[in-house]
Amino acid sequence: MGTHFKKTVRHAALMTVAGFLGVSLCLAFAPSAFAQKKIQSSKSLVKYRQIFMDVKAKHNQGIKLLTRGSKSGVAIPAVDRIEQIISHSKALAEMAPQMLSLFPKDSFGSESRATEGIWDEAGEISAEFQYKAGNMRGHAEELVKVAEKGNMNEIRRQAAQLALACRECHSDFREEE
Ligand code: HEC
Repeated sequence: MGTHFKKTVRHAALMTVAGFLGVSLCLAFAPSAFAQKKIQSSKSLVKYRQIFMDVKAKHNQGIKLLTRGSKSGVAIPAVDRIEQIISHSKALAEMAPQMLSLFPKDSFGSESRATEGIWDEAGEISAEFQYKAGNMRGHAEELVKVAEKGNMNEIRRQAAQLALACRECHSDFREEE
């Protein structure tokens, strides 16, 4: 019985090694399975695009913090806060259309969370994606105007609209993490 048991253990161990090799082989060949979804643009493009998006997010976070009330807000005079909100909003207004050049045809897959729906059948950036970028620009420009008038409540409201414009594009064109 003892020998039989040992044999069984050895057999099980061998099977484990075989299974491990099998999994390793599958992993080694897995990239070819993703070939159809291969990214045609460079890795640097996707990296830069994500940096660009992160910069937008930082502008957005900055605006949000600057619009807080006096108790939890940034402790500098309101006129200075407003001046900075205007700078952040102007940057976002300029960056919205610039986004379009960062999505060359088929630049999805791999590290990118961009969805295929960004491009239409002809391989051009879809009208819907362009509309969403335009929508973000419109709300950022509106925020500049509202901020120039100086009412913090109105600024806060418009900043929320701008943040919504970001989310409206992500919900359609950015894959879940
Ligand atoms: C027109 C569509 C669109 C708009 C508008 C848009 N985004 Fe994005 N965003 C994307 C897409 C697509 C990605 C995924 C890019 C990728 O992974 O290649 C993305 C990615 C991101 C990321 C993740 C970056 C990373 O490191 O992976 C952040 C953060 C982000 N966006 C913030 C914003 C903010 C803030 C706004 C608004 C001020 C905004 N986005 C507006 C389409 C948009």
